[in-house]
Amino acid sequence: QPRVFSAMQPTADSLHLGNYLGALRQWVALQEDYDAIYAVVDLHALTVAPDPEALRRRSRITAAQYLAAGVDPERSMLFLQSHVPEHAELAWVLGCLTGFGEASRMTQFKDKSAKQGAEGTTVGLFTYPVLMAADILLYDAQLVPVGEDQRQHLELSRNLAQRLNSRFGDIVTVPEPYIVKDTAKIQDLAEPTAKMSKSGNPSGLIELMDTDKVIAKRIKSAVTDAETEIRYDRENKPGVSNLLAIHSAISGTSIAELEAEFSDKMYGHLKVAVAEVVLDAVAPIRERVTDLMAHPGELDEILAEGARRARVIAGETLARVYDAVGLIPAG
Ligand code: TYM
Repeated sequence: QPRVFSAMQPTADSLHLGNYLGALRQWVALQEDYDAIYAVVDLHALTVAPDPEALRRRSRITAAQYLAAGVDPERSMLFLQSHVPEHAELAWVLGCLTGFGEASRMTQFKDKSAKQGAEGTTVGLFTYPVLMAADILLYDAQLVPVGEDQRQHLELSRNLAQRLNSRFGDIVTVPEPYIVKDTAKIQDLAEPTAKMSKSGNPSGLIELMDTDKVIAKRIKSAVTDAETEIRYDRENKPGVSNLLAIHSAISGTSIAELEAEFSDKMYGHLKVAVAEVVLDAVAPIRERVTDLMAHPGELDEILAEGARRARVIAGETLARVYDAVGLIPAG
């Protein structure tokens, strides 16, 4: 069966609607036709210098949100990246194949390092996309479901795979990004020209673990525009278009149908309808997360089992790569 791999960073106590619509929902759907492997990339999260206790909590609650959204541990592998040491090991080999200039061109690195300044920027942040490539190549994933912001990182993963193959013989699968256009970039509700992100404006964020009240309030306060017409136009009406996109993604109603349905209505009506579909989708996930977090032993057992299964595949790939580049296996 063809394989899919993806991952998220445990850098917050809740995933947000962009993570859910842009990635997690696709993960759940892809389990039907793919051998699916999903990780919580705790090593990546070290790049934000988290408090150790917060990192532990976030790693578990991120995994719980995967499960609550429908990742099925009977069918798919679900694990913490640090439980499979091959990720860090393959990252070293890939780092030795990555140009310094090539890594310097990653726009997420440029943005984040510009914010943090030269002294605040770590080598870990610089090599972040190399570790991400290792995550993907270890499992010979054909498909990687992500949001638009990961496209450039995926391109680096592809280049590294091709480089490994052309220098050392066909040893890894070249992955393809799987980016669903309509939900690839969910925008910030308060600043609809920017993507929704954990580091953005809190009032523009919808977190899965927020209360119904907070979510409804944020949707009600979403920034729109000075017109009155409900029409999908990303360029001129980013706020309204974002609301239509969110509604459509969750309800399955096409944008054209929504435009027709709301043609004689006001922005307030649209917001009420969006809040309704979002809460219907999010509230059951939140309840399941609360249940899962009440039994941390069971959650840890699911993660341990996922890591055991993942290590079998990761170990084979790493051995193949080590051998191909000329490292001698321990006798
Ligand atoms: P992370 O943790 O920042 O985000 C997790 C996923 O959510 C998507 N996403 C969005 N999609 C639509 N609209 C948004 N506003 C939005 N914000 C975030 C992201 O594109 C991502 O799919 N580098 C990755 C984690 C990673 C990874 C991997 C992913 C590490 N190794 C291997 C795939 C394969 C990241 O930072 O995601």
